[in-house]
Amino acid sequence: MFLLDAPITGRRQVARGMFVIGMQAPEIASTVRAGQFVNLGWSAGPLLRRPFSVYRSDGVHIEVVLKAVGEGTRQLLAMDVGEHISCLGPLGHGFEFGAGTRTAVLISGGLGVAPMPLAARDARQAGARVTWVHGARTAVELCSETEGDEILWATDDGSEGARGTAVAASPDAELVLACGPNRMLAAVAERWPEAQVAVETYMGCGTGVCLGCAVPLQRGGYDRACREGPVYRAADIDWGALPSHLAYAVTA
Ligand SMILES: Cc1cc2nc3c(=O)[nH]c(=O)nc-3n(C[C@H](O)[C@H](O)[C@H](O)COP(=O)(O)OP(=O)(O)OC[C@H]3O[C@@H](n4cnc5c(N)ncnc54)[C@H](O)[C@@H]3O)c2cc1C
Ligand code: FES
Repeated sequence: MFLLDAPITGRRQVARGMFVIGMQAPEIASTVRAGQFVNLGWSAGPLLRRPFSVYRSDGVHIEVVLKAVGEGTRQLLAMDVGEHISCLGPLGHGFEFGAGTRTAVLISGGLGVAPMPLAARDARQAGARVTWVHGARTAVELCSETEGDEILWATDDGSEGARGTAVAASPDAELVLACGPNRMLAAVAERWPEAQVAVETYMGCGTGVCLGCAVPLQRGGYDRACREGPVYRAADIDWGALPSHLAYAVTA
């Protein structure tokens, strides 16, 4: 885990209201795995750092993707190239890619695209053919940067791709990875109990100390999303006890 003072190197729009911010953070960029996240803080920012999945990495820079949902995300999106962000990471337990996996499907709803470019990279490196199924409410909210051997779209209003959810539009595969609103991930768990899902929780420290990120488990008890998660085997989570409204849900 590294704590870096990372200059912003760029910003671009990838869907309506959805932006990617790039930062120079070599130690994190060269070690991050798909599904891991960074905890971001900045001067004049909120007291608590804000967690974001690492979207892309080129070994020197990392990117995060976000929408303005509150004061912290609004401030981040108002920052200029050259301003500095305090970046703690990589944090958490990412996706696992077994050698010999022949087919992988990545399922993302709205901002659930966040861990998927790295997941596509790592699944391809593990030798899998990658299908990415991306869903949103409507066509202009679909992220324009999906990649893979096959790309499928789903929209609630049918304005692009299949009408309905990304889960319904998804084919079966040996490896299923998903990120999106918790209610979408609960549907993934019903269809593919062995899927790996990146869940949403509230977070405090991001490093396992404050217990602010509790995830209820099927076997009873809780895990810390920031240490044991945020990626879980879908069947291991007690979906009924996990809030279904959290932030990735804002857009999907
Ligand atoms: C492991 C992890 C990875 C994440 N990755 C991304 C990402 O890649 N892109 C992205 O846009 N967001 C991501 N989030 C959610 C992001 O951290 C929150 O949207 C952000 O903290 C909101 O900060 P804010 O100050 O703008 O909002 P606030 O003013 O704090 O809150 C605004 C609204 O967002 C809700 N909210 C606040 N914090 C969270 C939270 N941690 N989770 C869910 N809802 C929250 C509040 O209930 C409120 O409705 C991730 C969260 C976790 C736990
Ligand atoms: S956020 Fe503090 S223990 Fe997980």
